[in-house]
Amino acid sequence: MKAIVLENPLIKHKLSIIRDKNTGTKEFREIIGEIATFLCYEAMSDAVLEETEIETPICKTKVQKLNEDKYAFVPILRAGTGMLDGLVKSIPNAKIGHVGLYRNEETLKPVRYYYKMPKDIANREVIVLDPMLATGGSAIDTITMLKEDGVKKIKFLCIISAPEGLKKLEEVHPDVQIYTASIDEKLNDIGYIVPGLGDAGDRVFGTK
Ligand code: PRP
Ligand code: URA
Repeated sequence: MKAIVLENPLIKHKLSIIRDKNTGTKEFREIIGEIATFLCYEAMSDAVLEETEIETPICKTKVQKLNEDKYAFVPILRAGTGMLDGLVKSIPNAKIGHVGLYRNEETLKPVRYYYKMPKDIANREVIVLDPMLATGGSAIDTITMLKEDGVKKIKFLCIISAPEGLKKLEEVHPDVQIYTASIDEKLNDIGYIVPGLGDAGDRVFGTK
């Protein structure tokens, strides 16, 4: 499946703020959450709704509702948790799993340190969150673990992606729809996205 890129001018404007190295932690975190909400709306555009009857102040009517119990969000620690608020606002009853991974800075390979999913994860559509898709290693390993747990439908939401990581993720997990706010130029020789926004985890949590 080809990645879906959000082309909205407001998103481009928000990206211009978080790319700027002078943007502080508070604003960075707020905008990561806002863009995550936009990505969530896009990712839900194929959602199947259920018809139900309600009463407006005027009359009875049939409405279309989302069954929120069918979804789970899985942020990749740490930076993915910065996107979580933006999604929970939209689908408050989704369950949440966590995957802890960090990249070994020499090999660029993801190292797993935590994995905790809701018990019924195999029966849910899972939306994986990480602001950065660089080499693709973290996203690929997370999705592999979810598939080993029996998950059938997975979407991946990221704010900035590198062409190298996108290609690899599409090759290894062709059934996973990717949503991104930008496809940047390339990776540099230490695995950072160019122009990118730097280290997303450090910028969300103010650790550098
Ligand atoms: C960052 C980012 C992704 C990963 C992307 O996490 O949030 O998880 O790198 O790189 P990849 O596509 O090459 O795997 P990092 O390892 O810096 O951990 P952190 O979120 O704890 O800072
Ligand atoms: N992880 C980040 O946080 N930033 C990058 O540019 C690449 C990986």
